[in-house]
Amino acid sequence: NKIKDLLNAEHPESDITVHGWVRSKRDSKNFTFLELNDGSCLKNLQAIADEDIGTYDVLKDINTGASVEIKGDLIESPGKGQKWELKAKAVALVGGADQETYPLQKKRHSDEFLRQIAHLRPRTNKYGAIFRIRSEASFAVHQFFRERGFHYVHTPIITGSDCEGAGQMFRVTTLEDTKKPVAEDFFGKAAYLTVSGQLDAESYACALGSVYTFGPTFRAENSNTPRHAAEFWMIEPEMAFADIHDNMTLAEEFVKYLIWFLMENCKEDLELFFNFVDKELEAKLTNMLTNDFERVEYREAVKILENSGEKFEYPVGFGVDLQTEHERYLTEKHFKKPVFVYNYPKSIKPFYMRQNDDGETVAAMDLLVPSVGELIGGSQREERLDVLDSAIEKMGLSMEEYGWYAELRKYGTVPHAGFGLGFERLLMFVTGVTNIRDVIPFARTPKNLEF
Ligand code: 4AD
Ligand code: MG
Repeated sequence: NKIKDLLNAEHPESDITVHGWVRSKRDSKNFTFLELNDGSCLKNLQAIADEDIGTYDVLKDINTGASVEIKGDLIESPGKGQKWELKAKAVALVGGADQETYPLQKKRHSDEFLRQIAHLRPRTNKYGAIFRIRSEASFAVHQFFRERGFHYVHTPIITGSDCEGAGQMFRVTTLEDTKKPVAEDFFGKAAYLTVSGQLDAESYACALGSVYTFGPTFRAENSNTPRHAAEFWMIEPEMAFADIHDNMTLAEEFVKYLIWFLMENCKEDLELFFNFVDKELEAKLTNMLTNDFERVEYREAVKILENSGEKFEYPVGFGVDLQTEHERYLTEKHFKKPVFVYNYPKSIKPFYMRQNDDGETVAAMDLLVPSVGELIGGSQREERLDVLDSAIEKMGLSMEEYGWYAELRKYGTVPHAGFGLGFERLLMFVTGVTNIRDVIPFARTPKNLEF
């Protein structure tokens, strides 16, 4: 039986079996209390063992962290604080935990400390909650797109091309090949871990209509920030016959759906963050659901920043990529809600974005949200073959590499658009957790590959 179901039981139940880990033990004169958690939910099940049960002796070896199997009856709890408790008839120790060395003691541990024991931290309330929320959120992603008729495409992880053109790719090679020239490598050319599944997703959107990909992506980000990881998960929808405004509309619906879904389905786990991480979080999330996101052109956003009277570390002006401090000013101080900034200067954006008629900007859009900054990056794609060809040439990319991509424009081209949402950034936003290392099971960041 799962503890989650037992705690929500409607009737007492006899002869059940519970498996779990002991969170704490309290000895009384002739009985022992155990708080049990099995990961199915935040709450523990209290088990009580009287000294007259045949297996009472084993309790002296059962401590915090031990795994146990308890058989008994679910009865109404006479004590305060819980409706049900488990009256043990037989207790078995499955795996003991040495109290001298077990790192998770009853006190509160810092996030920094728990990062060093990433293999054990899901056994704490906070991290258990984060990773149940992460699991539910993944399900919600698929549900959202499925309800809208999007097809799920598995784009490759090993790739030959740098979608974002930012030079942040990790090379993939075999141990044997590390000493050979690239042309003699396993693939006969340099291979990398993908930074984005977008280009492949475009190919499928131009056949299946509306698609999305959801998988790990990799970036050699050397900037050691609380918002960047070398391995993170990205959700990338791509729609044929759609423009940048359709794209923003989809993005807004998507983010609102995910928040709504989690508030509906993860109430108990989210409460922990509402109560202990950010007292205003619940209001922030509710606010987000009920208000329209702002949509502002990059030119306008720059003007707002120039006239803000703020002293930014990085000066802002047309042609400057917005920094975290600018993003936060726009969403937290100026608009006080999520903001789409769109139509960015083409000089700071990748080759594939659709050029606007002004000749200076492209149909790019970023969604900025309070606390986290950039949550989504996307664009309408350049669907005109001649314009795309010249962008590829101007950026010094090779036609050999991108010929297949250009061919999507040569045969049956359509206006299309899509975006990428950083899954960890969404989880940070929903939980109020401020470090990306704390919302992914085993974080990959510079100088950190312990697990
Ligand atoms: O803005 P980005 O670089 O956009 C793309 O990769 C497009 N090809 C997506 C598309 O149009 N299909 O990345 C998209 C999002 C960012 O807004 C951010 O949320 C997240 O991915 N992201 C990261 N998250 C964690 N760690 C990193 N190093 C990240 N880099 C980007
Ligand atoms: Mg971006």
